[in-house]
Amino acid sequence: MTDFQTIVVTRTGRTATITLNRPQALNALNSEMMIEVLAAAEELDRDPRIGAIVLTGSDRAFAAGADIKEMAQQTFAQAYGGDLFGAWERLARVRTPVIGAVAGYALGGGCELAMLCDLLIAADNAKFGQPEITLGVIPGMGGSQRLTRAIGKAKAMDLVLTGRQIGADEAERSGLVSRVVPLEDLLSTAREIAERIASMSLPIAMLAKDAVNAAFETTLAEGIRLERRSFHAAFATDDQKEGMAAFIEKRPAEFTGS
Ligand code: CAA
Repeated sequence: MTDFQTIVVTRTGRTATITLNRPQALNALNSEMMIEVLAAAEELDRDPRIGAIVLTGSDRAFAAGADIKEMAQQTFAQAYGGDLFGAWERLARVRTPVIGAVAGYALGGGCELAMLCDLLIAADNAKFGQPEITLGVIPGMGGSQRLTRAIGKAKAMDLVLTGRQIGADEAERSGLVSRVVPLEDLLSTAREIAERIASMSLPIAMLAKDAVNAAFETTLAEGIRLERRSFHAAFATDDQKEGMAAFIEKRPAEFTGS
């Protein structure tokens, strides 16, 4: 994989980890980091040997937001003309499951990047927030939409209008993260989850991710239709035959991704 300046990418078996690595700026998301995260995620997504991706930062910061120093002087014409932060949406189109492992600050674009992941686990020191209003802007990487869908209007308004941060427990209570673990267990837990997902059938995991994501995009009736069609399509795979045969024969399934 390409030599990166702002991230570190490691592979272990069928999983990969992308680690944000600008410690001097608390992993603030500058354009170089955006280009690198997207390039790495899309390359891993094209690799059928990779069944799950972990996205993480440091113990102190997942990411403290978009790089304020880089964007401070932008004009409207530059922000609009360059579609500032628009490219991050490419991460939502990655089909391989992405597990966000958040320790420390996940603020502004950092919180929005976390919410671009499919499944979020948090260390007990994690802090989430959308402080953009304190800078005279609003969330610009999907926060007003994804946070509201994740935790509801009441909490989303609270965070977006006041800029206050919430800790890991409140984030879990609110439905933003699926699990909270001690800081020292964060990466091992995220990797265990990634390995478990990667041990399943990759095309089936993609169908499952797609179906859950459809709940955010469409009506209930349309979503149910999509789910049922995808469920039916699963019967066209060898992995469905293997999964059900393994159950009946009381042995572990060996999925091949076909
Ligand atoms: N952009 C650029 N640099 C940042 C940064 C950011 N978002 N967050 C932190 N840094 C830099 C600081 O400037 C500082 O650099 P120097 O040592 O060169 O001064 C270094 O990281 C360490 O930060 P602090 O000294 O501030 O550390 P702290 O522990 O005192 O505070 C913090 C931590 C509360 C996270 C604080 O750094 C902070 O409030 N950061 C900004 C958070 C923020 O507002 N994020 C939203 C950005 S806007 C956005 O994301 C828009 C969008 O929707 C996409």
